Amino acid sequence: MSGYPEVLSIREDFPILKRKIEGHPLVYLDNAATTQKPRQVIDTVRRFYEFHNANIHRGKHTLSEEASELYEDVKKKTASFINAKSWREIVFTRNATEAINLVAYSYGTEFLKEGDEILLTMMEHHANIVPWQMLQEKKGVKLRFINIDSNSLLRMEEFEEKLSERTKLVSVAHVSNVLGTVNPVREIAKMAHRVGALILVDAAQSAPHLPLNVREIDADFMVFSSHKMLEPTGIGVLYGKEEILEKMPPFLRGGDMIKRVKPYKSYFKEVPWKFEAGTPDICGTIGFGAAIDYLKKTGMEKIEAWDRHLVGMAYKLLSEIPALKIIGPEDRVGALSFLLGDLETERIALFLNSYGISIREGCHCAQPLHRSLGLWGTARASFYIYNTEEEVLKLRDALLELAKIEGISE
Ligand code: ALA
Repeated sequence: MSGYPEVLSIREDFPILKRKIEGHPLVYLDNAATTQKPRQVIDTVRRFYEFHNANIHRGKHTLSEEASELYEDVKKKTASFINAKSWREIVFTRNATEAINLVAYSYGTEFLKEGDEILLTMMEHHANIVPWQMLQEKKGVKLRFINIDSNSLLRMEEFEEKLSERTKLVSVAHVSNVLGTVNPVREIAKMAHRVGALILVDAAQSAPHLPLNVREIDADFMVFSSHKMLEPTGIGVLYGKEEILEKMPPFLRGGDMIKRVKPYKSYFKEVPWKFEAGTPDICGTIGFGAAIDYLKKTGMEKIEAWDRHLVGMAYKLLSEIPALKIIGPEDRVGALSFLLGDLETERIALFLNSYGISIREGCHCAQPLHRSLGLWGTARASFYIYNTEEEVLKLRDALLELAKIEGISE
């Protein structure tokens, strides 16, 4: 287990990894969709309901004050996790999709106008395309796309061509959920800022795998989802520079985000609370705090190194299978998408499942990317901190067997 001897003890923290699927030990390779949860997170969630459960920001009683403190403390942990200047720059949403919608509805409808341009890339997840189409329909904002080259990297020269004083926002995935490509977001941020545009970094696939430094990237917004980084589903993070969040109007309105309500007018709280209407996922957020502690204790540098090691090993072994075609570059993080001959991707996923191996198949919420590659879908294996070299070998062996059964092993 070069560079990561702890993987076996890490596996002990994940009760679900003891499961058998179709009589085989579970090999969970669908981590880009959601990760499994360690005992430390599960225990934190249970402890919250057993000892601290109450609504936050509302009651002057011990439980409510404890719950509020535990909840707000996770903003500090999240800010430190991405090296934000202040916890006030962290807004909790339901998921990364809602965080992007928040920016589109709040910033976009308030500050963008007809003729303004938003620059996206062909490798975006639907969550980073569809909300901007709303601004195209409602405000006449123009969407433009950066294409990818034959190595599945962004055509950086297209940024030079397409960025102009009309560009108001660049919104780009840090890591592609299909190709695994790591985009040079620091460089893209510099280019965006040069023409006065803001940059939103979709870190849904990078936050789980790479040490993040939002100030070094100089992102104006960054979004990610906690369930892809060991936490229960239901929490998204929006990071925004404080001065930008300050001038944005609320997205959702109602209880908890107000200072005062009169029948015909309301006064809102400061950031970040003006963006957190209604009762949030209190317990899930506190569980997210435990997930951040777990990742920090393990070490993000080590997590990145192990991920690159496993995905690199998978790339090498799967490339040796004659009928198998890998989509995307060799230098990648997290996900490895592939095709096997002309087999339906569903056939691949079901066959692997019969050996206890969980992968995802289909378009992975990235139809424009797949269509631009002339594909309808791919099979995708994605790795995380508890995966082992042995599991990569099992994936390779099962694919070799499937190729043999289908007569495409030559
Ligand atoms: N966005 C998640 C994925 O890529 C669900 O699978």
